[in-house]
Amino acid sequence: MAFICLDLRCLFIFLICTEFINPPQDFVIVDPGYLGYLYLQWQPPLALENFKECTIEYELQYRNINSERWKTIITKNLYYKDGFDLNQGIEAKIHTLLSRQCTNGSEVQSSWSEATYWTSEQGSLETKIQDMVCVYYNWQYLICSWKPGIGAHLDTNYTLFYWYEGLEHTSQCVDYIKSNGVNVGCTFPSLESSDYKDFFVCVNGSSESKPIRSSYFIFQLQNIVKPLPPDYLNLTVKNIFEINLKWSIPKGPIPAKCFIYEVVLTGDETSWMTTTIENEIHIPRTSNESQQLCFLIRSKVNIYCSEDGLWSEWSDEECWIVGMIISFLSFFLFFFFLLFLVPGIELRGTEPLSHIPSSILYFYLETGSLEVA
Ligand SMILES: *[C@@H]1O[C@H](CO)[C@@H](O)[C@H](O)[C@H]1NC(C)=O
Ligand SMILES: *[C@@H]1O[C@H](CO)[C@@H](O)[C@H](O)[C@H]1NC(C)=O
Ligand SMILES: *[C@@H]1O[C@H](CO)[C@@H](O)[C@H](O)[C@H]1NC(C)=O
Ligand SMILES: *[C@@H]1O[C@H](CO)[C@@H](O)[C@H](O)[C@H]1NC(C)=O
Ligand SMILES: *[C@@H]1O[C@H](CO)[C@@H](O)[C@H](O)[C@H]1NC(C)=O
Repeated sequence: MAFICLDLRCLFIFLICTEFINPPQDFVIVDPGYLGYLYLQWQPPLALENFKECTIEYELQYRNINSERWKTIITKNLYYKDGFDLNQGIEAKIHTLLSRQCTNGSEVQSSWSEATYWTSEQGSLETKIQDMVCVYYNWQYLICSWKPGIGAHLDTNYTLFYWYEGLEHTSQCVDYIKSNGVNVGCTFPSLESSDYKDFFVCVNGSSESKPIRSSYFIFQLQNIVKPLPPDYLNLTVKNIFEINLKWSIPKGPIPAKCFIYEVVLTGDETSWMTTTIENEIHIPRTSNESQQLCFLIRSKVNIYCSEDGLWSEWSDEECWIVGMIISFLSFFLFFFFLLFLVPGIELRGTEPLSHIPSSILYFYLETGSLEVA
């Protein structure tokens, strides 16, 4: 008897599940005008009386129409918000899920509700801007630049709009970079609370002769940072076995823990490269015969602070030259020699070296070596 009851109940649930669980209603994609940040929203399914005690969940899937992969979200809410690439259409689908506890183990789901969204496209593809590049210099100054579309008329006036979560509405660029009177870039004002979130940009335009196609971009500012290189470098040859390289942390708002450095050390014959997150390294000397060692360095934001970044320019080169150190040493020894060992030399005059036979001086300058003196 118990078995029959159970079976009947299972059948009942099965029937309800397959026949009567409806998909969510009024599923729509809403564009609030934030240049790619869209709202997906829906209403609960009809006829839920039989599942009053059940938790209803929704499985939402969405993607840009040409992309391969769907993003999947499971939620109990009646909306979801995300950033989309508005250069392409967007498609989304959603269905109702009943939790396993509610259906005693079997997963129950409704059919899909579907929705799509396209921005109104105007103008031909050739009127779109080309080669857009945005760089966040030193995590401080955002600059974007582009080239006019190949099919755009000379009178085309491009305009840039941007938005990120926290701004009440989209803002237009206030400081355009111009070339022959045409806007080809934008210097942004200082941006507050704009890191680690999607930054939406749209470059559209107008022209007397034809409509201009808009271009959309999404990036995160921390991933396009180009820092400054270190401005102080120090190369010390500690002894015949060890070289010490040290440099300053680039100036600005980027925390010291956010840097990775690429170091290139060149000797007479070899060149050696490494990366490090410290601002000092000790490296063994492979040859004590190098007459000259030089290094230079560049910096980038590391993976602890961003997913990506741009290398800085290279720093100036800092060198250690054997000959130069000997020269300096011999120069001082030479003075010492002049002062104390050569009797009768006075340093009161302005030309102490004029007392020294020019042949010796010449020889000294030629060889840079004290042995001859
Ligand atoms: C769920 O099914 C199992 C057998 O598959 C049964 O023992 C249990 O009592 C059922 N639970 C509920 C809440 O119906
Ligand atoms: C270009 O656009 C800007 C901003 O919308 C406007 O102020 C300016 O007058 C326009 N220039 C031309 C030549 O249309
Ligand atoms: C460009 O985009 C902005 C933001 O969506 C909009 O306000 C503006 O009217 C658009 N301009 C043109 C010429 O389409
Ligand atoms: C380089 O660092 C060493 C100590 O490590 C210091 O003695 C030397 O003066 C520094 N050189 C320069 C040019 O600052
Ligand atoms: C260079 O190193 C070798 C051993 O590695 C040693 O024999 C030689 O004396 C060193 N030369 C100088 C100038 O220090």
